[in-house]
Amino acid sequence: MAHSLTLPMTPAYTIPVAPGLLATVRPTAASRLTVRPSPPLHGDCVVPGDKSISHRAVILGGIATGLSRVRGFLYGADCQATLLALTALGCVIEFGAAREPEIVIHGRGLHGLREPSAPLDCQNSGTTMRLLTGLLAGQQFASFLVGSPQLCQRPMERVVRPLRQMGAQLIGREGGRLAPLALAGCGERPLSGLAYELPVASAQVKSCLLLAGLYADAAVSVHEPAATRDHSERMLRNMGARIERTGDVVTIHPTPELQPLTLTVPGDASAAAFLLVAAAIVSGSELTVRGVGINPTRSGLWSTLGTMGAEISVENPRESAGEPVADLRLRQRALSAAYCRGPNVVTMIDEIPILAVAATQARGRTVIADASELRVKETDRIAATAAELRKLGADITPTQDGLIIVGPTRLRGAAVSSRGDHRLAMALCVAGLVATGETTIDGAEVTADSFPGFSATLRSLGADLTETGPVIAATWSASD
Ligand code: S3P
Repeated sequence: MAHSLTLPMTPAYTIPVAPGLLATVRPTAASRLTVRPSPPLHGDCVVPGDKSISHRAVILGGIATGLSRVRGFLYGADCQATLLALTALGCVIEFGAAREPEIVIHGRGLHGLREPSAPLDCQNSGTTMRLLTGLLAGQQFASFLVGSPQLCQRPMERVVRPLRQMGAQLIGREGGRLAPLALAGCGERPLSGLAYELPVASAQVKSCLLLAGLYADAAVSVHEPAATRDHSERMLRNMGARIERTGDVVTIHPTPELQPLTLTVPGDASAAAFLLVAAAIVSGSELTVRGVGINPTRSGLWSTLGTMGAEISVENPRESAGEPVADLRLRQRALSAAYCRGPNVVTMIDEIPILAVAATQARGRTVIADASELRVKETDRIAATAAELRKLGADITPTQDGLIIVGPTRLRGAAVSSRGDHRLAMALCVAGLVATGETTIDGAEVTADSFPGFSATLRSLGADLTETGPVIAATWSASD
């Protein structure tokens, strides 16, 4: 459960939160969003670069041979953790001017990373920790991965188990179930090949194993129960790796070197989702989000909004460095309930909190099932989304693997909390646009994990919201 506390300005320190459990308290510049009923939203906007692609660009650029140029990199907190980790592994990364958001990564080649002198801090980023575990498992040196108390509660055995089967030596708390993780490195001996069936659909685990596969002496195959985001495969293929997909199985073969990348990161479909739902529920709205990634493995939210009745069009489809991109235009129309389950849920796994907000304004009973992975995201997103939206008067019931929402409901403004989860913070803010009175969202600074500039973007479209802060506060997790 997440707690927050207002503190005087102080450096990070540890406090006892339960018998035998110390938590690190990190002072952060906390902010509160105050949202009022919104006039129609209108206009054109862009969203920051895709988070998943930004992480992968830094990691793969770091082990390419030569200079990679990445435009539109997401300077969110999560991707900065990956960036700092690659720097600690010896990669020089140059930053363009703020108006010219290009980073240049001096790749050290597949075997050129150097032993980091301190633990690598993945902060609150699951993608950083799981992908780096795959990258580092096959190095000749030792490394240590640490993260926020929240991240240290998220499951890691899903990467530890298959990597051990490849011969990697790694340990973590509770027998490898939880971070921090320690990787011994594999000396001169490469990892072994593997044919692995993923117990849960996870792009992070798949990507972890593909990265480890670059350091294996035989093919690594990953069988997915449902198609997850395929950015790693697209980028690796562009960089010259021998990688192929047959049905549900992705295979990477031993690859001597990776060519550097030249890439413009598409706008993040998961960030665009908040703006699209805002326009779908605020009466009289019409907006266009330009340059959004429309990779089919990420398209669940906007295709579901279309099924629910929103008028949505995909304009100027184009391709950017192997990823499909387009402008998404949405016109508000009356919404009806949706039934979401099976592989479609995987294509909008990060969008369930904002889909739940749309469902509160849709006529009928929306059922979201097969989404138990939400229980192990930045928060337990099933419990947290239901509990916070209920404070606004939503008719929402958590189930073991999803949510049931009955609408339409006239939401009422209330005080709610992000619980340290960026996507929950943004979903609650969008809900506040259609609530009566004022909605305040505490802990709104976390929106910068994936969408720096979120509140300013909504304001530019006409929304009535203000951000106050920073006050110095701290958040931590404890199992109480
Ligand atoms: C991600 C994969 C998904 C997603 C996360 C980013 C990625 O996680 O929820 O935000 O970049 O690979 P899982 O692999 O745990 O489903």
